[in-house]
Amino acid sequence: MENPVSYLLNPRQLLTITLSVALATATTGLGAQSADAAKPMALRSVMERLGRDMQAVTGAISKEEWTLVAELAPKIAKHAEPPLGEKMRILGWLGTDAGKFRGFDGQVQDAASAMGDAAKRGDGQAVIAAFSKTQQSCLACHQSFRQSFVEQFYGSR
Ligand code: HEC
Repeated sequence: MENPVSYLLNPRQLLTITLSVALATATTGLGAQSADAAKPMALRSVMERLGRDMQAVTGAISKEEWTLVAELAPKIAKHAEPPLGEKMRILGWLGTDAGKFRGFDGQVQDAASAMGDAAKRGDGQAVIAAFSKTQQSCLACHQSFRQSFVEQFYGSR
């Protein structure tokens, strides 16, 4: 039986087609991989939320809306966490630095809880002091881990 494709194409044309298909497949594979690498981590949306809540706190402090600060503080202290699978990936990457990473998160939790307590007492100075401590803890983790995190999970940026 005559193969219809080889009937129409000479062996050199067939080879060219085979190579093009192989190349296209390889390129598509790479493309899919980098698109996958650029997909945002769940941690990023947790962080965006934290950023918005901290901004809302500064607004509330300016207006001395201590009730609002008291509502926002627990959202910061007990923020959402990435799903288990992502957590495992992050912990695997952190290795022996996992304790340090978690330590910064604990500092955020403690400082934001103190901010909530101060807000319930209507103690503006203590709210601001605890707010500053919270923000310092965010910064400390970012300075230690953010750049390498982005390089690890997004390739580079
Ligand atoms: C335990 C470490 C850690 C702590 C604590 C932490 N962050 Fe982050 N944060 C990260 C990492 C890692 C990234 C990079 C995430 C990414 O790019 O996917 C990040 C990124 C961010 C971003 C940028 C998100 C974006 O869209 O690129 C914001 C905003 C942010 N954090 C806010 C905060 C605030 C506010 C706090 C404190 C209340 C805080 N973070 C505390 C680790 C931390």
